[in-house]
Amino acid sequence: MAKNTFTLTDNRNGKSYEYDVLSGTRGPDVLDIRTFYKDSGMFTYDPGYTSTASCESKITFIDGENSELRYRGYDIRDLAGKKSYLDVCHLLMMGKLPTEEESKDFDLEIRHRSFLNEGIIRLFDALPDGAHPMATMGAATMALSAFYKDHLHLEDEEQFKTMRRRILAKMPTIAAMAYRNSIGTPLIYPDVNKYFTENFLYMLRAYPNGSMKYLGDGKNDEIKQVEVDALDAILTLHADHEQNASTTTVRNVGSTEAHPYVAIASGISALWGSAHGGANEKVMDQLKLIGDVKNVPTYIAKAKDKNDPFRLMGFGHRVYKNRDPRAETLKLLQDQLREELNLDSKLLDVAAAVEEAALSDDYFKDRGLYPNIDFYSGVILTALKIPVEMFTPIFVIGRIPGWISQWSELKQDPTAKIARPRQLYTGK
Ligand code: ACO
Repeated sequence: MAKNTFTLTDNRNGKSYEYDVLSGTRGPDVLDIRTFYKDSGMFTYDPGYTSTASCESKITFIDGENSELRYRGYDIRDLAGKKSYLDVCHLLMMGKLPTEEESKDFDLEIRHRSFLNEGIIRLFDALPDGAHPMATMGAATMALSAFYKDHLHLEDEEQFKTMRRRILAKMPTIAAMAYRNSIGTPLIYPDVNKYFTENFLYMLRAYPNGSMKYLGDGKNDEIKQVEVDALDAILTLHADHEQNASTTTVRNVGSTEAHPYVAIASGISALWGSAHGGANEKVMDQLKLIGDVKNVPTYIAKAKDKNDPFRLMGFGHRVYKNRDPRAETLKLLQDQLREELNLDSKLLDVAAAVEEAALSDDYFKDRGLYPNIDFYSGVILTALKIPVEMFTPIFVIGRIPGWISQWSELKQDPTAKIARPRQLYTGK
């Protein structure tokens, strides 16, 4: 088959440059301009990378026009709530869904790796009460690189595997302890008898003796299976999202040969921003600020006003200019859980009114602004008694398999180079 090419002509001197057009399995074709600077002495200009494919990848596929998201070829709708989150981690990290036996072994290994070195726990003491859990998680993850400095021999398959699984196993413990430390309550150690997601809820909720019961009124805070399943589905929906801002950060830092946990800590930093994973916390603040259905038009008008910095949090996405399939799945989950988890109906009403108003407004329609994953996760997380400052940490827990798989892919890519863009200099 003839190779497809693309010719660029410099109209200043009539010189032409021909480049290969690469076709992936799916998605738009890609122009291979790797030699463009060498050929023409020019750079390409693409702030925010809106037209740039930064790598080749076999992990996650998004079709933003058709609301499609696939992990290793599987539609997200066939995974969330249908496979356990840990099986999805196996899928992303190992490239295939586990057999029953592999699933059991993987689960067991993750349970046993969930403990933190006591040195990391002492690190929490240095951080003040009220520290945001994301700040503590970033610091603790960075510090992990000091504890596991001998496990960087990537050619050793066992070490490579262990290094990847360890960070997945420890993140819920780091997150739960970061939260408890921020509010000054005793830290709860993981319980190896509990599955990943249940263990996380347990570490957030339990009394230091492991009890879930408040003796005063006998109120039982026991973790229900429906809660574990809901959080498991939420984690699955966050597990990977191809070359988003935090993943690109992980790859960029990874490209410098930095320790993998340092790269993951950088991903945590990038995710925290309100234009990215930090939006879920802001959505909840915003729904509370709107407070009542009758106030919705005022806030929609503010979001449309170019002189007002107010943005509707949980709306819009760089890739989805149609519905976000993760948001759709979460909305279904929300409808199913409305009764069972006693979801806050006032918040739900405000959220529904915001969505309805935005989706019928030309401003949002013309720009393809739909609710994204962060718009729906908050109401469910609140019903799971998860404090709002833990919303973004939950995103981090969910995204670990994605970051670690993308980092691994980079490390195994013989064409990978240090990330080093150039610039259009306009200074003195
Ligand atoms: N509210 C109001 N207007 C918006 C919003 C919003 N939430 N999002 C985008 N717009 C408008 C912009 O003002 C712009 O209008 P213009 O063309 O008249 O200038 C247009 O829509 C395009 O927006 P950009 O910011 O150029 O789009 P981009 O792809 O760069 O940004 C982003 C995407 C950052 C997600 C943006 O939509 C946003 O800030 N949303 C709110 C924050 C949020 O929910 N983030 C979570 C994203 S999902 C995730 O990370 C998990």
